[in-house]
Amino acid sequence: MAFVSSGYNPAKPMENRITDIGPRHFSEFLPPVIAKNKGKWLWHEIVEPGLLMHKAEGGDEVYTVRCGGARLMSVGHVRALCAIADKFCGGHLRFTTRNNIEFMVETLEEAKKLKEYLNAQKFDGGSHKFPVGGTGAGITNIVHTQGWVHCHTPATDASGTVKVVLDELFEEFGQMRMPAQVRISMACCLNMCGAVHCSDIAILGYHRKPPIIDHEWLDNLCEIPLAVAACPVGAIRPTKKEIVTEKGETKTVNTVAIKNERCMFCGNCYTMCPSLPLSDQTGDGLVIMAGGKVSNRISNPKFSKVVVAFIPNEPPRWPTLAKTIRQIVEAYASDARKYERVGDWAERIGWERFFEKTGLEFSEHMIDDFRDPAYYTWRQTTNFKF
Ligand code: HEM
Ligand code: HEM
Ligand code: SF4
Ligand code: SF4
Repeated sequence: MAFVSSGYNPAKPMENRITDIGPRHFSEFLPPVIAKNKGKWLWHEIVEPGLLMHKAEGGDEVYTVRCGGARLMSVGHVRALCAIADKFCGGHLRFTTRNNIEFMVETLEEAKKLKEYLNAQKFDGGSHKFPVGGTGAGITNIVHTQGWVHCHTPATDASGTVKVVLDELFEEFGQMRMPAQVRISMACCLNMCGAVHCSDIAILGYHRKPPIIDHEWLDNLCEIPLAVAACPVGAIRPTKKEIVTEKGETKTVNTVAIKNERCMFCGNCYTMCPSLPLSDQTGDGLVIMAGGKVSNRISNPKFSKVVVAFIPNEPPRWPTLAKTIRQIVEAYASDARKYERVGDWAERIGWERFFEKTGLEFSEHMIDDFRDPAYYTWRQTTNFKF
């Protein structure tokens, strides 16, 4: 496309520059019924899956229809969402903290019509555009990351694995038959952008090979002490090394040495230093964690724990991943008590029973060996089940 200026003048970059104006205030976008009753809500109920009703002091009601979103969206798709909001909701809509989309209307009749309309919309390939659900004790959207779409440190893909898992568990999004809501999250490396460390079930991209050192470039591209300090286990040290460059010159460079037996493939040094890449087609894969939560309801917030040490990357449909997640969800759904989150259930029955009931294999990889706190994760009691 030919260049079209926005009015910005590259010769005077600071002229007419607007800065530090922050986000738009949310009150500019409130539907009238929300603006009017803000701070005066009395109670709410889930009318049916994907449909909430809030009652205000004066008697006003607002009906919210929640539908799934892929998070990664084209402008065409956002325009389609706007068209729906224009048609049914006076041009108002909102996105949730799990990237679902919520449409608000003022009567139950309108809400039911809207739900039916949303559930009827399909992409050419057959997938639902706006499947309604995500409320109550079901399985809602998967909070996820960039993967191979945009990041340079991933060990797996985000959008792909999430599509696989939500296809596998699709019926649960539009129903409320779990003991409590199940939050599944995904992160494509253990930087854990998002919520994997605090979710009921979490999918995590994992490497199994140490970095490959690009000695010729390392001192040119990296601040060596930062790479040394990036390592949580002290596997990296500075060193000098004689190398033969790509052009055939022999020279001695400042670089690093990595003790492979100490490296546990976190990839942190690569984040600091472009000359330490470590992604690998067969080495990389997935770890599954379970039992985390952020709410304070009954039990305190919990971290999720490692329950599957490795699942290979199997693009595009990751069948082993889909099967394993279903296995955990089914064992939990059939055994946990009402209101128990996955972590509440696992801790009540004991993790030895969690592994038995889910059929997952326990290996030495699950035993914490990271510094002094590892000790507290071992069992200093004779209380356990055979
Ligand atoms: C206008 C006011 C409010 C808005 C817009 C709002 C919005 C939300 C959203 C978007 C979620 C997450 C839904 C998802 O999973 O996608 C949520 C969760 C929740 N909200 Fe609110 N909320 C509001 C007020 C309240 C109030 C007043 C209460 C309680 C008195 C409340 C209790 C909760 C609880 C308990 C959860 C579930 C937390 C969990 O994930 O464990 N909310 N809310
Ligand atoms: C006496 C008042 C309220 C109580 C005791 C209450 C309690 C709760 C509880 C226990 C949950 C389920 C949390 C969970 O399963 O972890 C919930 C969910 C939720 N509440 Fe309330 N709530 C109240 C008022 C409100 C109000 C006024 C709003 C919004 C204006 C609100 C918005 C929500 C939302 C959006 C959810 C999440 C629904 C879902 O995704 O399934 N709540 N609330
Ligand atoms: S989790 Fe890691 S790989 Fe994924 S987006 Fe975040 S930093 Fe990038
Ligand atoms: S990948 Fe992690 S553990 Fe391995 S050397 Fe780099 S920073 Fe250290």
